[in-house]
Amino acid sequence: MSKILFENAVIMSEGPRYEGWLLTDGELIDSLGAGEAPAYVKADERVDCRGKWLLPGVIDAHVHFRDPGLTEKADMASESAAAVAGGVTSYFDMPNTVPQTTTLEAWQGKMERGAEASRANYAFFIGATNGNLDTLLKADYKRVPGVKLFLGSSTGNMLVDADDTLRRLFSEIDVPVAVHAEDEAIIAAARERLKAEYPDGIPVECHPDLRPREACVAATRRAIRLAEESGARLHICHVSTADELRLIADAKARGVKVTAETCPQYLLWDRNDFATLGARIKCNPSIKEASDRIALVRALAPGGAIDTIATDHAPHLLSQKEGDALKAASGMPMVQFSLPAMLDLVDSDPEAEDLLTHERIVELMCHAPARVFGVDRRGALRPGYYADLTLVEPLRLPGVKVTDADVVSRCGWTPLAGRTLSYRVASTWVSGRRAFPDADPSQRGSALSFR
Ligand code: DOR
Ligand code: ZN
Ligand code: ZN
Repeated sequence: MSKILFENAVIMSEGPRYEGWLLTDGELIDSLGAGEAPAYVKADERVDCRGKWLLPGVIDAHVHFRDPGLTEKADMASESAAAVAGGVTSYFDMPNTVPQTTTLEAWQGKMERGAEASRANYAFFIGATNGNLDTLLKADYKRVPGVKLFLGSSTGNMLVDADDTLRRLFSEIDVPVAVHAEDEAIIAAARERLKAEYPDGIPVECHPDLRPREACVAATRRAIRLAEESGARLHICHVSTADELRLIADAKARGVKVTAETCPQYLLWDRNDFATLGARIKCNPSIKEASDRIALVRALAPGGAIDTIATDHAPHLLSQKEGDALKAASGMPMVQFSLPAMLDLVDSDPEAEDLLTHERIVELMCHAPARVFGVDRRGALRPGYYADLTLVEPLRLPGVKVTDADVVSRCGWTPLAGRTLSYRVASTWVSGRRAFPDADPSQRGSALSFR
């Protein structure tokens, strides 16, 4: 594999940006530094990065690539291509595929599919059920990022609700337990109420009432209590409310081992946006009030309750997004635009002013996921780490308008269509090989390892 010298880059990794160079040695980073590369540095290929930022590839710890079983929406080849087009070099895929990833055989099948088809580095959560604790205890956690637990059912019906199962799971699993936290009973009650109120169909704009904040707060409180009693490592997925931020901050202050993720959709939109975007922004948990969005943006700041940004990339065909709030599918594609959209948020959102930096976005999307899940030698630009690299180009204002035609994901649409972004991903390398654009057809990602 060739040694590549990246020159004249603005390097952003583990601290304030600086101008510098980076040399790869096949699949790993050999060395990097400020200013011009020393004359003794020899490379097979030089990449002039003038005007661009060199970042560690994004680690997206929450995606639904739909493979196997739901491949009319997406598959590992299509969505990993969307990932690298968005500067995402590693991803952890969720277990609500068909079959569900709740057995070691299903997990092994996905690992084989990843080796065959994935352009980015891959790992697969194993899903908890009310009856598979023995399987969870046998998994190889050098290869599995953690256990995914649906405390509240969403797409795929993987609800785990038995109290004794939950208690055993939290006390016996010592990798992160990643939780979808929405309380089933509260959602069921809200559904009955709204069905009575709207006999001809619940409008999509009511999705925040159909899956209300109280459901998130109750389930997050329960998950924190389980982690506190057991000492387990709890990772709360897709935090969508200000109330949960307070619960998480308090738990952290008490020493509970809890980390929290939010997603671009909760930072970009609030319930007022259903009027223009409709079911395109329908996801579970629901997007909530404007005040929640503002609290989430502020919680991205250093010392805030949020540790990581992941996408919850959940492609559905637009035809599956039709109908009322009960019928339209929940979830949206996000993996291709998450990095540009989050860099852009720093400049364009008044709430981010004086609180957020682009370096902080690199922390939330690259360094922190590696740290929370213990990813081996990825997530930062360091000698000896894998050369997972993303070159980002800041664009002259006003930037470029995103359209559905730009979408690499099989679903063929994006909730960001019509939005102007002032960053674009210029190119992406995975373990030292170019993955986007113009990748060699044989280029593939690797199975991730965990410490
Ligand atoms: O909106 C969602 N979509 N939330 C989930 O929890 C699952 C996901 C999906 O798989 O479509
Ligand atoms: Zn979820
Ligand atoms: Zn999800």
